Amino acid sequence: MPVTVSDEQLQSQFTYIDAIASMVGGKQLRAYTHTFGCQQNEADTERIRGMLRQMGYEMTNDVNEADFILFNTCAVREHAEDRAFGNIGSLTHLKKRRPEVIIALCGCMAQQEKNVEKIKKSYPQVSLLFGTHALWRFPSLLYRVLSGEKRVFDIGGEDDIAEGLPVLRAAGPKAWLSIMYGCNNFCTYCIVPYVRGRERSRRPEEIEKELRELVEAGYKEITLLGQNVNSYGKDLGLDLDFAGLLRRLNAVPGDFWLRFMTSHPKDASPRLFDAMAACDKVAKQLHLPFQSGSDEILRRMNRRYTAADYRALIADARAKMPDITLSSDIIVGFPGETEADFEQTLKLVHDVQFDLLFTFLYSPRTGTPAASYEENATPQEKQNRFERLLKAQDEIVARRQAAYQGKTLRLLIDGTAKGPDYPFTARTEGNLLVCVRGEGITIGSFIQATIEKTSLRCLFAQKK
Ligand code: SAH
Ligand code: SF4
Ligand code: F3S
Repeated sequence: MPVTVSDEQLQSQFTYIDAIASMVGGKQLRAYTHTFGCQQNEADTERIRGMLRQMGYEMTNDVNEADFILFNTCAVREHAEDRAFGNIGSLTHLKKRRPEVIIALCGCMAQQEKNVEKIKKSYPQVSLLFGTHALWRFPSLLYRVLSGEKRVFDIGGEDDIAEGLPVLRAAGPKAWLSIMYGCNNFCTYCIVPYVRGRERSRRPEEIEKELRELVEAGYKEITLLGQNVNSYGKDLGLDLDFAGLLRRLNAVPGDFWLRFMTSHPKDASPRLFDAMAACDKVAKQLHLPFQSGSDEILRRMNRRYTAADYRALIADARAKMPDITLSSDIIVGFPGETEADFEQTLKLVHDVQFDLLFTFLYSPRTGTPAASYEENATPQEKQNRFERLLKAQDEIVARRQAAYQGKTLRLLIDGTAKGPDYPFTARTEGNLLVCVRGEGITIGSFIQATIEKTSLRCLFAQKK
């Protein structure tokens, strides 16, 4: 059973929130947050913003006018870490000019010893640092800083779940809904299990309660989040798996789309696709990362499926949901990847015909098994493979997008676009991006629209 942070412990955090509110009251203090990384991190930032708002902070998008600055960081690739360090580094002058500004760092990088040491030594402007496990303790940590402690670092904590924290969501009709935390898979390249701890599932009644609140508040697209949603519930000891959870949530009244991410091919199953097909509110869209098309590379990645298993899953999903849109993640240049291995990846991409791909160059992560695997390909070879993959996928996407020409689809209007001709942005049920024009369009509404033209990144539609 997952450990839940006790009411008593949470209550003490609300006491700190109140104490901070009386300290900052009337001072018109502003908070700025910046999130790197995945949706899980965005969802975490929304909790921190919820706490900040309850403490009396106003939110700002301008880092220069902020009194409290927070970076929620990602450690999944070196590039993400470099950007976070770069951002903190660029605040040196701001901190000199306004020493009272509090700069804080949290998230996945803050859960790693090597980064914490680096911040301690080389980034004195950071006065508050806490890891993913200490998030719910943020009020007490900030209180210590506001009370005069020079530097507060908290990277301890359990693999637990904190319910009932306040949340300030981003504007618009979309919301994240975490259903589980952590990961048990230990893919050999990946840092996530080390910085997010073991898998733990929220109780279904808590998830359903939050979904009902979201639907009542007018959210139209709710994405269920977890590193591996298909293993939901394994730790709860209930007779409920992810497919069962989907069916339960589909019964919540209202007009909305349910999405979920991320699925792992080793745990995705015909049972899941049956549930997706049967549930009218579950969007017919699947993000199913396969990482590599070579069985040997998959074995060394510890992914625990073969390319044939993956193909069988896709065939089953398409048989049950012919219009389903498919996306995936791929890593290029994993240690030991040969030209022949890479061609297997290309072949899988050609055979499946994905609507969207997220492609990454392998980035060694200290502490993961693959970091000590021997590299064979040169950076140029890897770059060359990467570009060939992008090119192949662009050709596929161009064809798939063009096939939408003239079709009438249901869209969710989710924001405003930059161009004057098609002033709104929207998503299809399959999560494709659409720019829309027409009379009487409002953000947050579902409309019917006809696709007038297409490009690689966007469909263009006229409201009916
Ligand atoms: N839990 C999700 C994804 C988490 S990270 C899943 O298992 O699908 C998102 C993506 O980042 C991964 O799917 C993988 O493609 C990529 N990734 C993770 N570690 C990486 C690394 N060390 N180098 C390059 N890409 C990586
Ligand atoms: Fe990382 Fe693998 Fe877990 Fe995804 S399933 S978070 S890639 S270890
Ligand atoms: Fe990055 Fe942490 Fe997500 S490492 S990808 S922010 S879980």
